[in-house]
Amino acid sequence: MNYKILSTALIVIGASFCTMAQTDPLRFNPEKFTAQSIIMPDGERVKYKAYEGIFYVTNVEDSTYQTLNIYVPERLAGVSRVPILLRTYVGGYMASTAKSPSPTDATGRALKEGYVVCIPGSRGSNSIIERNGKTVYTGTAPNGLLDLKAAVRYLRFNDDVIPGESELIFTDGTSAGGAMSSLLGATGNSVEYEVYLKEMGAADTRDDVFAAICYCPITDLNHADMEYEWLYGCTNAGVRHLDDAQMKISDELSAECPEYINSLQLKDKNGNIITADNYKEYLKGFILESVHRALQEGCEIPDTIGFTFYQDKSGPMGGGPRNDRAGNKRPVMGDGRQAPSFGQGNMPRFNNKTDFVTDLDIDKYLTYVASQTPLKTPPAFDQMGVIIDTPSPENKVFGDDRGEAANFTDFSLRHRLHSSSVKLDKEMVDRVAIMNPMNYIGTDKSTVSPNWYIRHGAKDRDTSFLVPLNLATKLMNAGKNVNFALPWNRPHSGDYNLDDLFNWISNTLK
Ligand code: DHB
Repeated sequence: MNYKILSTALIVIGASFCTMAQTDPLRFNPEKFTAQSIIMPDGERVKYKAYEGIFYVTNVEDSTYQTLNIYVPERLAGVSRVPILLRTYVGGYMASTAKSPSPTDATGRALKEGYVVCIPGSRGSNSIIERNGKTVYTGTAPNGLLDLKAAVRYLRFNDDVIPGESELIFTDGTSAGGAMSSLLGATGNSVEYEVYLKEMGAADTRDDVFAAICYCPITDLNHADMEYEWLYGCTNAGVRHLDDAQMKISDELSAECPEYINSLQLKDKNGNIITADNYKEYLKGFILESVHRALQEGCEIPDTIGFTFYQDKSGPMGGGPRNDRAGNKRPVMGDGRQAPSFGQGNMPRFNNKTDFVTDLDIDKYLTYVASQTPLKTPPAFDQMGVIIDTPSPENKVFGDDRGEAANFTDFSLRHRLHSSSVKLDKEMVDRVAIMNPMNYIGTDKSTVSPNWYIRHGAKDRDTSFLVPLNLATKLMNAGKNVNFALPWNRPHSGDYNLDDLFNWISNTLK
């Protein structure tokens, strides 16, 4: 080939590459932004470039939800590799539009820290479109998760043009959004989602993430009912006020839980196997840790909710006059003053406050939790048709594209249809399986995120404590970097204690 022909060929190839780059619908356009800002609670104005309304798949089914927004702070963090916070606002397993950053949650804080923020929308149980004159539900499981995975892929596909590192994506969500975050963390690159992602026109690249931040994840849905009854069964005859039919369902569900707990073969940090027999002791350790931290931060702990307070003369606080509200002995502080009783007035000032709480009657504590917010009635999640007909958020998300809610456990299906032989069909079993992060951790089915921050409030009763604790433990057992806590006095909520979260993020980046 002479030089002239070669150069013509190169020009043609070059031009077609250029056109491809410009017309590739998944290519990020760094020029297309608006300048925006938010005012933080401390009055600081944080300025950023806003890239909004970007479609992250090529076969868009639902244009209301399948878009993402990207926010790039004017002052990028002075670190060599800038992370990207991917915050989902999924709640109740419903659809969620791509939102703007908020000064009061992790998105605003991330921008202030100089991190890039991505807020994807995603389909959910209530997203609908009209197709051929019919209403089609677009967001039944696993579609919401697929959307979020497609958003991760979009960031990675455009890594060279989007500021921030797609190898440092931190996903963040609360409740059903916490579940989504846990799934993003657990299911990276799994082939089990591949055919769907291809069909949607997601970018052809990896979808594993660096870290998952999960606030009160409502997950492990196919075991959540038994885990709820097994834990809270101690309140059935008391504060929960169940009737006979509910009591029967509760007992049956609870009876199925030990086998599940034992099957997990979880280990505590000393390598001891956790079984149904010692599980409550294991859980107790985390609640005590929570209360110890709260005491160190100056909280008052009521002495009526199950904690045992230090009362021993030979202990670190020494001897002296004692009596507490219940007339029991009360320790004396290091300076010789008698410690005030808890829940009344000032906290005692001494060095080792945590020595005050030494043990916990866990059933009493669970009764306290149940007295703060009434518990869900059994079955707590797959409830449709068992005692009441109303579908739960979970029944809806496992429904079909006509908007018919569905059962997602054999237990509830059997009870609804009054047939001991009926079972979920294979399609449903598969859908439920790919919506459960527990199925991926410790297997070779996916690339599990190396870093996890998991929180579930110490008085959050939306799901059993077993759900986040099993998740965290399974991850720890798989060698992941897991920061897990049950923050004291927190109900069902997320993106709190942002100092703690952003310290963790910063340490994780080191
Ligand atoms: C949410 C809360 C629930 O109790 C539940 O069952 C599902 C979702 C939520 O807040 O997202």
